Amino acid sequence: MKLDGNTILITGGTSGIGLELAKEFLKRGNVVMITGRDKERLERAKTQLPQLHTFQSDVSRIEDIDALHARVTKEFPALNILVNNAGVMRTINLHSEEQSLEELTREIDINFKGPVWMVKRFLPQLKKMPSAAIVNLSSGLAFVPLPSAPVYCATKAAMNSFTRSLRVQLKKTAVKVFELAPPATETELFDTKSPDMEGVAVMKVDDLVRQFLKGFEKDQLEIRPGQANSLKFMNRVAPEFILAQLSKPVERMLGKLN
Ligand SMILES: NC(=O)c1ccc[n+]([C@@H]2O[C@H](COP(=O)([O-])OP(=O)(O)OC[C@H]3O[C@@H](n4cnc5c(N)ncnc54)[C@H](OP(=O)(O)O)[C@@H]3O)[C@@H](O)[C@H]2O)c1
Repeated sequence: MKLDGNTILITGGTSGIGLELAKEFLKRGNVVMITGRDKERLERAKTQLPQLHTFQSDVSRIEDIDALHARVTKEFPALNILVNNAGVMRTINLHSEEQSLEELTREIDINFKGPVWMVKRFLPQLKKMPSAAIVNLSSGLAFVPLPSAPVYCATKAAMNSFTRSLRVQLKKTAVKVFELAPPATETELFDTKSPDMEGVAVMKVDDLVRQFLKGFEKDQLEIRPGQANSLKFMNRVAPEFILAQLSKPVERMLGKLN
């Protein structure tokens, strides 16, 4: 994909990877829109990057997606790139009695159903464009789970699977389907300073986005920077070993309970 002259919609662009992507795409002469749930965070992003177009929209609400689709396709008919970036991650102790069933699966609504709905809604628009792309954010944890975040990892494995199916179904269109699987990256998503992160190489967000843009420009459809690629490889050659490594935080969590 060329890195300039596009019209790009990024879900969840008020911080972290989404905001950095927005910044770098703006620098290269693209029209960039971001979404988020929080009005103040959207305003802060707009103050930081005045050329940004911001929309308050929650990917886990169908009515928000419908309203976003109506506005964006009317106001930005040249939209040709959708980045499904919005996501949340929580540590979940499945022994806990405190969480409601609905609360338990919040990541499924935001990290998985949201992107599937966004793709379905925006696909007709993307198919109209001579050159278009969908970028789905999965994770290194799509390939081997971190059992202390069981629902999050399941959503990322689902994103990896969905993205591969989508790529096959769109083979005869001009819409290219990319998967960006970041490794642990320094953002607000999770606490990179926790003892559970011992031995994990944490990537700077600007490094991650630089590597993504390099791959995106070369039409590398699966982009797995740093340890994300190692996790995929390890899961193939030593699946039990790598799962045991990633299970240590759960052993600590359960140890605290006993
Ligand atoms: N950081 C990592 O180590 C890492 C590793 C692998 C994959 N990823 C993936 O990268 C993506 C970006 O994460 P990040 O690390 O940049 O985290 P982040 O800094 O927490 O950013 C997440 C963004 O998503 C937005 N968001 C959350 N729920 C939303 C919803 N329901 N609707 C719309 N926007 C929503 C947030 O804004 P509001 O809260 O204001 O809505 C925020 O802008 C996620 O999909 C994450 O799973 C991150």
